[in-house]
Amino acid sequence: MDLFSAIDTEPVREHMEQLAAELDRLNHEYYMNDRSLVSDEEFDRMMRELQDLESQYPELASPLSPTKRVGGEVNKTFRQVQHRFPMLSLGNTYSLEEIEDFEARTRRLLDGIPFSYTCELKYDGVAIGLTYRHGQLVQAVTRGNGTTGDDITTNAKTIPTIPLRLTGDYPDDFEARGEVVYPFDAFEAMNNQREAEGEEPFANPRNAASGSLKLQDSAECAKRKLLFCMYFMMGPDGIALPDTHSGRLDWARQMGFRVQPYIRECKDIGEIKAFIDHWDKARWELPFGIDGIVIKVNQTPLWDRLGLTAKSPRWAIAFKFKAERVSTPLESISYQVGRTGIVTPVANLRPVWLGGTTVRRATLVNADFIEKMDIREGDSLLIEKGGEIIPKVVGVDEVERLKMKDENSPLSTFRFPLVCPECGTPLVRAEGEAGHYCPNSDGCRPQILGRLEHFVSRRAMNIESLGPERLELLYDAGLVHNVADLYDLRREQLVGLGTDATIQDRGADNLLSALEASKEVPFERVLFALGIRYVGEVGARKLARYFQNIDALMAAGTDELAQVEDVGEVTARAVSEWFARPEHRSIVERLRAAGLQMSGEWKAASGKLDGMTLVVSGVFDRFSRDEIKADIESHGGKVAGSVSSKTTYLVAGNNMGPEKRKKAEKLGVQIITEQQYLDLVNE
Ligand code: IVH
Repeated sequence: MDLFSAIDTEPVREHMEQLAAELDRLNHEYYMNDRSLVSDEEFDRMMRELQDLESQYPELASPLSPTKRVGGEVNKTFRQVQHRFPMLSLGNTYSLEEIEDFEARTRRLLDGIPFSYTCELKYDGVAIGLTYRHGQLVQAVTRGNGTTGDDITTNAKTIPTIPLRLTGDYPDDFEARGEVVYPFDAFEAMNNQREAEGEEPFANPRNAASGSLKLQDSAECAKRKLLFCMYFMMGPDGIALPDTHSGRLDWARQMGFRVQPYIRECKDIGEIKAFIDHWDKARWELPFGIDGIVIKVNQTPLWDRLGLTAKSPRWAIAFKFKAERVSTPLESISYQVGRTGIVTPVANLRPVWLGGTTVRRATLVNADFIEKMDIREGDSLLIEKGGEIIPKVVGVDEVERLKMKDENSPLSTFRFPLVCPECGTPLVRAEGEAGHYCPNSDGCRPQILGRLEHFVSRRAMNIESLGPERLELLYDAGLVHNVADLYDLRREQLVGLGTDATIQDRGADNLLSALEASKEVPFERVLFALGIRYVGEVGARKLARYFQNIDALMAAGTDELAQVEDVGEVTARAVSEWFARPEHRSIVERLRAAGLQMSGEWKAASGKLDGMTLVVSGVFDRFSRDEIKADIESHGGKVAGSVSSKTTYLVAGNNMGPEKRKKAEKLGVQIITEQQYLDLVNE
């Protein structure tokens, strides 16, 4: 017998199990009961010990080990799975009257049977269903279209408030449903970091939660600090569950779920309205977003009696809050100059608490916006914040205006500045354009820095070690004025740079190697990085694929440029004007000489959609809109914005608008589902 196989792994297994159990207990205390029983260092040490043992003895590692919380598994795609129980949505309303109707109808239908309601928070996140068998998490699936969703089990395992193993008593087989939400503070921190790295910030915590669950790298998801709020439990026939909704949630809490404590049993409409009223005001004190209140009949045996409508149960309804709106004085307007020279007016507001954050500034878009809203000096503005985290100016507070205004002297209107607030150059407003811009592109500091920041940003050249502060440092030292200068930087110029010698040996080496690595960035992204007005990522890709190299692109006239899909006349003109300028040509030549990619042959991954034109509409389960468009192109297809007789297929997502469907039906264009699309390209 071979000596090694004789080694008894039993003591190791036991030790690993003990470690896992202890880590589970500590996690539970920390995330469910807000109690820290050991120091962070001690916790990390135990986690590392278990990780080490698992890599040494992979056959002893449990799929539900607490190390899975740290992530590390990578999902290339998310498997589509069918829900065992369809994930219904709720009827919803903004009107209290409809809540009264709901209550009266329910009482009428239940015809004297005693019952009560539960009122609870409507979490503003992403709905998921968790399947537990024998107390172990076996699968986590997103709502998707209600019938099928994405298997996001590996990412779900990284969420600390999702129990991997249940404690105490539990049903043998059931599904726990709830919402994954992004708490405000974690959301803000993550968005700030994204912006610092030149990435697009998420519009709101809901989008961010949804994006996080679809991350390919579960270790990234683990960093996102998501929270799972459980609100529903169901099981197959024959599995005994408590016969009240509130009883089920109480039980779930004992099993180890984090069930939010904000649930009330209400006996009549008065109590329901009081609950709604309370949370409409108090909701911003919560650490996460809610967008309404859910009212359910508490006695579950009555659910069958009340039944379902076409897509939602008759025993529950959601009341949705209106976007919160406040009025606050406009203290002044500043004018921000962006990288393309566009000057954006920004309202400086008297700080006001709105939707969980203090609002101090809001964009006023352009001169037309100010004029259309008739915003004047001394006005108070109405600011709104819905699900979106970015506050919006929705109008002037007319009541305040009346108080301010002296009968004989109306408030004075704003005058857009005539010269650039940064460099004093007279501003230009091109015919037919709403925005003013500063034409001094080569001498206006925020434009120069803005272009550099854009160039190095993640989606462009992705030069991570060059943040805005570094760029400012290089610019102020006179080393870098335009993007080509970056590639002339030498080590000895960098070391010791900054007031406290911010850049050291290592920093200089990192920067130079990041610049070196950027020479591999494909042509389409180099083109995007140049920062030509109106040329976004999509436009750059289209131009790169059409012309295949920079010389052909530079030689093209406006007409030819405008023929490229998604490149309109305005963009075409901007492109040819950009390349017409000698200083831009010289930058291009210097970048070429430095070794950046100035050409790239592009071939579709497959020719399955060659010669076809597809239109996409609605929301997809497997792709974002941009992803499905890119996917179509990668198979050789063209994407059009509207249905016409040239359309081959209309790919219909969820909630597709009725117009596109009607048009397709009228023209006899074939409508296919997302799954049929996938079958088409993957067959
Ligand atoms: S109960 C069949 N309770 O709101 C009833 N839903 O359209 C199942 N939601 O998709 C839903 N908070 O994502 C319920 N406390 C709560 C909820 C909640 C948020 C979401 C859920 C659902 C939508 C209702």
